[in-house]
Amino acid sequence: MPKICFIDSDGARKEIDAPVGVSLLKLARELDLDVPGSCGGSCACATCHMILPQDMYDALPEPSESEEDMLDLAFGLTKTSRLGCQVKVTEDMDGAVITIPQK
Ligand code: FES
Repeated sequence: MPKICFIDSDGARKEIDAPVGVSLLKLARELDLDVPGSCGGSCACATCHMILPQDMYDALPEPSESEEDMLDLAFGLTKTSRLGCQVKVTEDMDGAVITIPQK
């Protein structure tokens, strides 16, 4: 099972064994990170904004148009930003370090 590390908005590092196919939002909730996920994962709020490492971002399919629209509303958007509810864990994410932006 891939191991994924999150850096929470307060700088704390938390690691989790991430089952393949689970969303990054679900992992964040399990770790009690500062990720509200207010819309429950339906791509309608941008509160699950996460910053991915470049190689992980590059390996993912392009964000959908609705994800792009929501990302435009996210605070502190970067070139490797994604919505955590729209990204599912894959085997090759092992060792990835994902940053939760400061609010
Ligand atoms: Fe609302 Fe991801 S939880 S967009």
